[in-house]
Amino acid sequence: MTANPTSPLNYDVPGPRTMPLVGRTLNVIQFAKDPIAYTRPLFAEYGNLVSLVEGGGTRLYSSRPTCPGTVFACGPELTRQVTTQQDVYHKSPLSGPLYRFRNESERTKPLKHFLVGLFGDNEDRHLQQRKLMMPAFHRQRLQTYIQDMVSITEDELNQLPVGQVQDISATTRLVTLRIATRSLFGEDIGTKGSSTGEIIQEAIRLQVSLSMKLLRFDLPGLAWHRYLNLAAQYEQGMRALIAAKKQRGGDEPDVLSMLMQVQDEETQTGLSEDELLGHVGVIFVAGHETSANALTWTLFLLSQHPQIAADVLDELEAVLQGEAPTLEKLQQLPLLERVIKESMRVLSPVPWNGRVTAKPTELGDYHLPEGTEVFVGITQTHHMSELYPDPESFDPSRWETISPTAYEYNPFSAGPRICIGAGFAMMEIKIVLAMLLQRYRLEFVPETPIDRAGFFVMRPKHGMAMKVHQQDRKFQAGVGSVQGNIRELVHLPA
Ligand code: HEM
Repeated sequence: MTANPTSPLNYDVPGPRTMPLVGRTLNVIQFAKDPIAYTRPLFAEYGNLVSLVEGGGTRLYSSRPTCPGTVFACGPELTRQVTTQQDVYHKSPLSGPLYRFRNESERTKPLKHFLVGLFGDNEDRHLQQRKLMMPAFHRQRLQTYIQDMVSITEDELNQLPVGQVQDISATTRLVTLRIATRSLFGEDIGTKGSSTGEIIQEAIRLQVSLSMKLLRFDLPGLAWHRYLNLAAQYEQGMRALIAAKKQRGGDEPDVLSMLMQVQDEETQTGLSEDELLGHVGVIFVAGHETSANALTWTLFLLSQHPQIAADVLDELEAVLQGEAPTLEKLQQLPLLERVIKESMRVLSPVPWNGRVTAKPTELGDYHLPEGTEVFVGITQTHHMSELYPDPESFDPSRWETISPTAYEYNPFSAGPRICIGAGFAMMEIKIVLAMLLQRYRLEFVPETPIDRAGFFVMRPKHGMAMKVHQQDRKFQAGVGSVQGNIRELVHLPA
């Protein structure tokens, strides 16, 4: 079915009907509860482009003043169209609809930069800003972060309680949080209380809270008040950090120091302080929970696939012989690489990739009005049986024979906005896994069901309880008896 493209408000992407009286609220609630469960049957019923509700009228993420509705797309062709047409599909700041309030008052002013960064830039400006930032993520530069990654991992591994049950998702979160703050700001929060990282984390948590939506008043005790305090605190802290770095000469080996020095070849100008505030916050958010969940899901999958766990350990011991990996040794671990790739295919840490249409456009067979929110389903594409036979099987060996295109396999997205930190993330994930698996065996403990949660990042809702053992190769222990809706995405032993 093709709609009339001449009507700017025409919104005819098919989707489920709304319920009488409650309208689209119930659909949005159901969607928010479990976006994957909500959209999977819709893709099966309507095809590769579906609306959250018939007729639109929803808004999840757009910072534009109007939003005709929310659609979900999957499959290589629609992924290609959305991720490569920069002039049509824009990104929104990570503060989402709250960004609109940036000019409201002095108190909301910090929202101009808070969680904006690369996600708030589009088209030429995005390309220009991204080009300036690229050197911080070049291969040679990655080498300078490796020592911190190793020492922080070592420190966290020393604290794992052998013989006891540990929430491994908390461990991976702390490791990646410490690595992110160390490599970004040059500060390790391991020993400190409050930090820039924690401020951003709390803000993100508040952003999705219900009270933020219902009670947006700047009054003590309310979420909006706290959020604005955090944004101001972030701004103050970052400006002080930048000033201190400037005083020290600014050539420290962290991302912020590097970004403070970059210069556009053409204009001979660098990044302004406001731009730095935006970029660093976004890099922090984009790079921390994502890597943590990639690690958690991989450890979970290995705990349920004993033969693969044994083979990975064989490879690690043969190449590293108990030592921490160097950049060179990381290249000599092909099975570890396949395990991570397959883990991010089956349980993609970032299930969706969001955009907002900057002008009316055609996608698939449908017309999308300007301002439509479009979410590309990374997980959904990774589970297409025509691309990946038996898609719910965790089978790293499939990577010996397949070589999917960037639109068929895209845990880091694709096109000009592909994750700038993909190399950083792969290095970090490999280092943590290599060090952890040589030292410990993690036995899955079925304390709580493994249910997925989260929209921008998929995490285990109730954490990931695992018993910590010194590595003893008893990989069969703890296999099976996993409860929860994770089984819809991956086949696991009974
Ligand atoms: C397993 C870990 C990670 C995954 C799965 C992941 C995934 C993604 C995805 C799907 C995007 C969206 C791209 C788009 O809009 O098309 C993205 C963007 C981005 N990521 Fe990552 N990411 C990871 C780790 C990191 C790390 C470690 C960093 C930084 C240290 C980082 C920094 C960024 C930035 C700055 C962007 C915005 C790029 C742009 O708009 O040009 N990510 N990432």
